[in-house]
Amino acid sequence: MNKYYLTTAIDYANAAPHIGHAYEKIAADIVARYQRLQGKDVFFLTGTDEHGSKVEKAAIAAGLTPQAFVDGVAAKFEKAWKSLFISNDRFIRTTEEQHKFVVQEVFRKMREKGDVYKGKYIGLYCEGCEDFLRERDLTENGVCPNHLKPPKKFEEENYFFRLTKYKDAIRQWLVDSSKNAHVLPEGRRLEVLHQLDDPELGDFSITRSRSALTWGIPVPDEPEQVIYVWIDALTNYITGAGYLTDDVAWKKYWPADLHLIGKDINKFHSIYWPAMLMSIDVPLPELVFSHGFITVEGQKMSKSIGNVLDPIHLTETYGADAVRYFLFAANTFDQDGDFSVADMLSLANGHLANGLGNLLNRLVTLLEKNFSGKIPDVKVDPVLMERMEEASSRYFINMDSFEFSKAIKDIFCIVDDANKYINDSKPWTLLKEGKSQEAASILLTSTCLLKRAAILLFPITPKLSCDIWHQLGFTETLDTITVHKEAYRPLMPAGQVVRNGGPVFLRIEDHKEAAASSKK
Ligand code: MSP
Repeated sequence: MNKYYLTTAIDYANAAPHIGHAYEKIAADIVARYQRLQGKDVFFLTGTDEHGSKVEKAAIAAGLTPQAFVDGVAAKFEKAWKSLFISNDRFIRTTEEQHKFVVQEVFRKMREKGDVYKGKYIGLYCEGCEDFLRERDLTENGVCPNHLKPPKKFEEENYFFRLTKYKDAIRQWLVDSSKNAHVLPEGRRLEVLHQLDDPELGDFSITRSRSALTWGIPVPDEPEQVIYVWIDALTNYITGAGYLTDDVAWKKYWPADLHLIGKDINKFHSIYWPAMLMSIDVPLPELVFSHGFITVEGQKMSKSIGNVLDPIHLTETYGADAVRYFLFAANTFDQDGDFSVADMLSLANGHLANGLGNLLNRLVTLLEKNFSGKIPDVKVDPVLMERMEEASSRYFINMDSFEFSKAIKDIFCIVDDANKYINDSKPWTLLKEGKSQEAASILLTSTCLLKRAAILLFPITPKLSCDIWHQLGFTETLDTITVHKEAYRPLMPAGQVVRNGGPVFLRIEDHKEAAASSKK
């Protein structure tokens, strides 16, 4: 199939976006751009999760109606993703009419299947997790281990979903090794298998009484019951692909190729979601991938510490490319990672301004000065071209397995090769000695390497790659390039004219000075 449908978790609209939310959306954007580079017809969905008690409470605290409150928060998320160049095709909001319709239909179908029954729930609920907890899930002090707050006790008559009916089938899906694993990384797959084995993981409550929660989608034909926020939220993945509303999109894009989520919500995606889909007779997604969590300067983000980082502020200060690059060059995606401004400056300046920016600058300057800016019609160095293809192959393997930091290293093998080649062979000396053909071959080879690096780096640093691409004289835009197109081939077109547009990536101190002086 030539399509690729990927989703992110939809963020709770109870507060503004932070760097942890951004980490996931950038990762999804890297995958989306990479799949487009492979020639896939990509559909990329993200959005906001706008119902539930947590959001309702935040709206009350802000003195707004829940709808007015989530309108404001959703706008902040959309703005943040634009500033980070997130190329989502659709931004879904769970308060949309289309989504509310689909959620009610899903509920109706589960009920018709005999998977929904009325019962009495007596237990604990953590609003932070929007999840039911057991005594043994709590810390010694009786609080939720994630949110460090005591859960609420409640006892109420509501609807349950027959999860137990599907436990065996979910286990089958998780161990179906005839295809690729459906849950990654492996540790997370084992974690859900373990959770499934727990006899206490039983049917779960999927509604609340309206007296306990007003801000949610009503149960069809029974407005006094409100649908549980996780049933509502998970359904976004099929609403977004046109389930029951757009047959063409639905046939084309479902099942999802990838649900990208954080490690804290694996149970919902790898147990509850497959069970819901089985109940409504919809095929299961290909893959759920759980990434690690980002801390800030080694600490968990929290309002009380005051270290919650705003992605819009970061991109306005340092540029989206630096933030994107650092997060994925410095961290291993399937493990926990860290964000630190000092480390970001040193990595971005070293790799992007010095390694990549200087390579471009040297090449266009030498070509303009000695060859009227034209790509010379000479032979390339086969050894370096071969190394470039080898590094590219490694890049594809690493990108396919979500090993972004390794893929970035592969790109920098190409950049470092080009820089070393120029330093060692000194084309400026050869030119002075009249060895113009030899110098031309060095410049051509290095330009071919830089061109490939720009293409492979495009999913990670889209603006920087486009700027390099433009200075190399291409007119076709980089976002239309696929590995099947002429422009992906190793050689540069002879006679193409490069355009020196100045530094493509300013060292970050300069950046801040430039921003400050433009404000004066
Ligand atoms: N609304 C639910 C998801 C519903 S999906 C059907 C939710 N929202 S959230 O706002 O709490 O989190 C959204 C995503 O951001 C989740 O995948 C979560 O794991 C991720 N992250 C939240 N904090 C994070 C970090 N500090 N680091 C990396 N990702 C983090 O859960």
